[in-house]
Amino acid sequence: AGKSSRWADADIAALVDEKNGRLDPQIFTDQAIYEQELERIFARSWLMLGHETQIPNAGDFMTNYMGEDPVIVARQKNGDIRVFLNQCRHRGMRICRADGGNAKSFTCSYHGWAYDTAGNLVSVPMQQEAFPKLKKEEWGPLKARVETYKGLIFANWDADAPDLETYLGEAKFYMDHMLDRTEAGTEAIPGVQKWVIPCNWKLAAEQFASDMYHAATTAHLSGILAGLPEEVDITDVAPPTTGIQFRAPWGGHGTGFYINDPALLLAITGPKIAGYNTQGPAAEKASERLGSIERGAQVTAEHMTIFPNCSFLPGLNTVRAWHPRGPNEIEVWAFTIVDADAPDDIKDEFRRQSMRSFSAAGVFEQDDGENWVEIQQVLRGHMARSRPFNAEMGLGETREDHPDYPGTISNVYSEEAARGLYTHWVRMMTSPDWATLNATRTPQLDAASA
Ligand code: FES
Ligand code: FE
Repeated sequence: AGKSSRWADADIAALVDEKNGRLDPQIFTDQAIYEQELERIFARSWLMLGHETQIPNAGDFMTNYMGEDPVIVARQKNGDIRVFLNQCRHRGMRICRADGGNAKSFTCSYHGWAYDTAGNLVSVPMQQEAFPKLKKEEWGPLKARVETYKGLIFANWDADAPDLETYLGEAKFYMDHMLDRTEAGTEAIPGVQKWVIPCNWKLAAEQFASDMYHAATTAHLSGILAGLPEEVDITDVAPPTTGIQFRAPWGGHGTGFYINDPALLLAITGPKIAGYNTQGPAAEKASERLGSIERGAQVTAEHMTIFPNCSFLPGLNTVRAWHPRGPNEIEVWAFTIVDADAPDDIKDEFRRQSMRSFSAAGVFEQDDGENWVEIQQVLRGHMARSRPFNAEMGLGETREDHPDYPGTISNVYSEEAARGLYTHWVRMMTSPDWATLNATRTPQLDAASA
């Protein structure tokens, strides 16, 4: 889309009515809005690209995406990780076409320009004859900033963005439920599952940030019934009500979870993982590190999104990016992590259970995806796009002074985190640069405007 089709800031802001909890469905369908998202959100946010243990050795690399931009993620000799655009500077061919591996350099398959693993142009075929004046040091692909948080690799194109820890803010506390249960940290189970869902990326990101509401109704009842051990009575798996939702006061992140509901945990994770998460030495260690038995052993069915498109489920440990592919499609790239010091049979059970539950063929994953696909299809209708969606659950029912949990806290059944995500979406879509964005970063700002 050219400049002429840009949305004015005021028109973008009018699409999300935080005060009344209303969403204009055009945010899920409009091509010009999508182009602005690529520029103003995906080119300026910290985006999750994988786990450090996926590229442990010098020369190890994997290819991935930041928005629609293909990138190479490569481990350097000194242990650093570099991320650069997977685009040859000669005529724009993809530099590396493999999913991953180990390399000393990458040679473009079109005319043979070669780049080292740090993204420097190191060789040009027949340079004397073909490009005698070329200064190779000026023709490396664009490099991104790279930072990690407890094993997860993030990158950002914008030099003015805050550092990753500041960007994550209070969300770090909740990420630790999955990433910091043991001093050994986590490791990735080999393999990345990738599949396509014809839906807008925000439907997935929002659900993982905010939506526990769907889990208790038809969306997941069939999956729960299918996986329930025979000795468990379905009446014990009645929708729990004890739990909380977190909305990042600024930043768009969100999470929610039940507290101490062993029956549902059993249905989602199976008995082996439920046992590992809630009883015994690993659960005790986690409780000690995280500061309470509740956080270490009793948090169940947790969902989380780091704005914009990184989501995960602590307890099952599936981690994924919702890569946008136009307003109407995403590519899901998902992998599973485990405590690095977990016994081998537990690691294997996490691998199996994450495939059974949340993966391309997982029962719960398919429940979720089916809803998003249907919403997107309905939104093809002109009239269907003409009425706002209701996102008012829990409006005004928040607190910022919870003794145990930082951030803006509400009931587990709330759309507070969804409103936080869309409010931050508007903020990023209408701010020309990070200086403007940072100026909006006053404590509890989102909550105060609710
Ligand atoms: Fe890569 Fe020509 S496009 S060498
Ligand atoms: Fe779900």
